[in-house]
Amino acid sequence: MEATSWTAYAAVFLATLFLLLLSKYLLQRKLHLPPGPKPWPIIGNLNLIGIGSSVEMAKVFLKTMDINFVGRPKTAAGKCTTYNYSDITWSPYGSYWRQARRMCMMEYSVINSYRRGPKLGVNTYEYIRAEELHSILHNLNKISGKPILLKDYLTTLSLNVISRMVLGKSYLNESENSIVTPEEFKKMLDELFLLNGVLSIGDSIPWLDFMDLQGYVKRMKILSKKFDKFLEHVLDEHNAKSNAVENYVAKDMVDDMLAGGTESSAVTVEWAISELLKKPEIFKKATEELDRVIGQNRWVQEKDIPNLPYIEAIAKETMRLHPVAPMLVPRLCLEDCKVAGYDIPKGTRVLVSVWTIGRDPTLWDEPEAFKPERFREMSIDVKGHDFELSPFGAGRRMCPGNSLGLKVIQASLANLLHGFNWSLPDNMTPEELNMEEIFGLSTPKKFPLSTVVEPRLPSKLYSV
Ligand code: HEM
Repeated sequence: MEATSWTAYAAVFLATLFLLLLSKYLLQRKLHLPPGPKPWPIIGNLNLIGIGSSVEMAKVFLKTMDINFVGRPKTAAGKCTTYNYSDITWSPYGSYWRQARRMCMMEYSVINSYRRGPKLGVNTYEYIRAEELHSILHNLNKISGKPILLKDYLTTLSLNVISRMVLGKSYLNESENSIVTPEEFKKMLDELFLLNGVLSIGDSIPWLDFMDLQGYVKRMKILSKKFDKFLEHVLDEHNAKSNAVENYVAKDMVDDMLAGGTESSAVTVEWAISELLKKPEIFKKATEELDRVIGQNRWVQEKDIPNLPYIEAIAKETMRLHPVAPMLVPRLCLEDCKVAGYDIPKGTRVLVSVWTIGRDPTLWDEPEAFKPERFREMSIDVKGHDFELSPFGAGRRMCPGNSLGLKVIQASLANLLHGFNWSLPDNMTPEELNMEEIFGLSTPKKFPLSTVVEPRLPSKLYSV
C-alpha cells in the first residue's frame, strides 16, 4: 500500500514537472529571443543569458534601459563569499543596495575629496597613497637587479592604501599578533577574485547546484570562513577604538572595498608593465614625458597626472585590451522588455562584453596592437559616458570606486616608470614573455610577471 502511494506521488510529481517545463518551453517559443544558447527548458536558465558586445547594445543595457537591467543574478559566489548577497556588488536591486551604495559613495567622496587632514593643507588620503607608494618604490629599489614578482608589490600597495583609508590601519604590515600573514592574505584575495569570476554550473543549472561539479562552492565556503575570521578581527579592533572608522563600515562593505579595490588596480598595472616590456619604444616615450614634466629630482604626484597625457593614454590602452572585468559584473533583467526587436524575458542575465568592444575592428585601428598614441586623437574617457571604453561599467551599477581605482593605477604606473628601468629576467626576450590571460568574469595574467628593476633617479629619492 505504502509503495503504491509513493509511486503515485512520484508519478504526479513527474507529470507536474513535465507540464511546467513544457509550458515554459512553449511560452518561450512564442518569444522572439535574441541569438544565444539554444533554449532547452530542462537545463534551467542557461538559455536566459544575453551578451551585449557592441557599443549600441552596451548603451542600451547600461544607459537607455539601465533601470531595467540594474539587478544582479543570484550566484554561488554572491551567496557564499559575500554574506548571502549582503555586499554592494551582489546585492539585489532594492532599498538595501541603495542605502549601502549611498553610504559607500559618501565614504568614497570623502576619500576622493581634498580635505584638510592631520597635515595642514594636505589631502589626507593622498598623503596615505603617496606614503604607501614610496614604501613600495623603496622596497623595489632594495631588491633591484634581482627578479621579482611585480604583482606581490602591487597587491600590497593597493591593500595597504585601501585598508589605511577605510580602516585606519594597514593590515599587511602587522608582524606579531597578526591574524593572517601577508602571503596568506594575498592568496585569499587571489582566490576571492577567481571565485567571483568563475562560471559555476549550478548558477545556470540550479538543479545541478547541490552536486558542486567543479568544486567551486566548497572552495567558496572555505574561503568565506577565512575572510570571516579576518573581518571579525578587523571589526573587533575597530569597535575597540571606534574613532578610527565610522560605525557603519561593516564586514560586507569592508569585503567590497578590499576585494573590489585591491586586485583590480594591481591586475591592471601588472598588464601595463607587461605590455611595455614587449614594446621598449613605449617605455622610452613615457620616460621622456616624465623627465620633461617632472624632472629627475622628485616623484610624480597625483596632481601631475593631467600633465602626463602619455601616461594617461597607457593606462587607457591597458584597460581597453585588458579590462579587469571583461564582461562587467552580470546584470539581471527585472521586467520583460524588448531590445532591438528581441524579447528579453524578466530574469535574463545580461553580460556586456567590454572585452569584445575593446577589440572591435570597426572602432579601433589595429585593435590587437598596444598603441597608447591612439588616445591622443580621441577624447574618450573611462567615466561611463563613452561606451567604446567602459572598464568600470556605467549607469546605476557603475563601479563606485572608479575615481579611486584610476588614481591608484595612474599614480603607481607613473612612478614605477619614472623610478626604474625594467627588463625581463634570465635573458628572456620580449617575444618569449607569456601574455595569456585567465578568461573568466575577470582576466588576470595566467603567469605572474617576473621582472628586474634598476633605479633611474638619484638614490636619495628612494629612502623612505
Ligand atoms: C581598476 C580598478 C577597478 C575596476 C576596473 C573596477 C571595475 C568594476 C566593474 C566593471 C564593476 C561592475 C560595474 C557594472 O556592473 O556596470 C564594478 C563594481 C564595483 N566596484 Fe569596482 N573596479 C575597480 C576599483 C574599485 C575600487 C577601488 C573599489 C572600492 C574601493 C570598487 C568597488 C566596487 C563595488 C562596491 C562595485 C559594485 C557596485 C554595484 O553593484 O552597485 N571597485 N567595479
